[in-house]
Amino acid sequence: MFPADRMRRVRLNERVRNMLTETRLHPDDLVLPLFFDETIDSVKYVDSMPGVPTYPLSKAEEVAERLHSSGINAVLLFGVPKHKDGTGSGAYSADGVVQNAVRKIRSCSDLVVIADLCMCEYTDHGHCGIITDGKVDNDATLPYYGKIAGSLAEAGAHMVAPSGMMDGQVLSIREALDDGGHEEVSIMAYSAKFCSSFYGPFRDIAHSAPSAGGRESYQMNPANGREAMSEIILDIQEGADIIMVKPAMPYLDIIRQARDEFSVPIAAYQVSGEYAMIKAAAANGWIDERRAMMESLTSIKRAGADILISYFAEEVVKELRR
Ligand code: PBG
Repeated sequence: MFPADRMRRVRLNERVRNMLTETRLHPDDLVLPLFFDETIDSVKYVDSMPGVPTYPLSKAEEVAERLHSSGINAVLLFGVPKHKDGTGSGAYSADGVVQNAVRKIRSCSDLVVIADLCMCEYTDHGHCGIITDGKVDNDATLPYYGKIAGSLAEAGAHMVAPSGMMDGQVLSIREALDDGGHEEVSIMAYSAKFCSSFYGPFRDIAHSAPSAGGRESYQMNPANGREAMSEIILDIQEGADIIMVKPAMPYLDIIRQARDEFSVPIAAYQVSGEYAMIKAAAANGWIDERRAMMESLTSIKRAGADILISYFAEEVVKELRR
């Protein structure tokens, strides 16, 4: 009781505070999302994601070398294809944009290469699966996810990250990988992926907004925490090596609950809208960008995430090395 107990003693000066810090960011925690577009020749930006480039494939080696020497450990790849169709064939083409990016990055760095596995950037309707009679057809989609996984593994991806939220996707992908001799390729499953407004800027970059309807029939209802645990349990049973909660900051309770209930590694994705909010407020002089960046990611780690996927990753690693 006060006055004997004084919490301010533990905040006495910077050295004392440093000694008593419970959660520390480390460069190896971070994963940087990277976008490659096979239709462009020079680096491109969209207004809603300041500082996040979309690269032409010709820049892949240069980018990989830069990131590698800056201390980045892992990247998560997304692609913008030149051709979209009903089955998202660009996603499983041996010569696809991400397959090419994977080969180039692997050829010149030892970055951990994670490939997002979805169809929305590759389908002409922008949904994450095959459409049958106007609906996203779960079971018809699964064999395609298997094909995408096989082609990404063939190109050299260390991990695939299925983000389409189809039931049974982890099992189908694990079987496809194993049948293809890719037992060593791991699955980082977007297990609790919520149907979120915070993906808006990503869809500007990836040109992946659905042309009709939303993703409510496959992505989760933001109101549901217990259901998130059910999703995670199923993904672990199906063979996920790492599970993910996405977005991160509005779902810290989900990360904490997952950390308390499961022993698997947990990734959290600080998504495009979370990044854009910090950038926009900072650009207006309303918040301090560097502090907001460090505080948001420290909080996501404190909630229980082991792996932090963030568009700030390169900046954070620079900050940590300072
Ligand atoms: C693809 C996918 C999306 C994101 C990651 N993978 C978009 C979506 O579900 O519409 C969002 C990432 C972000 O907002 O940063 N399914």
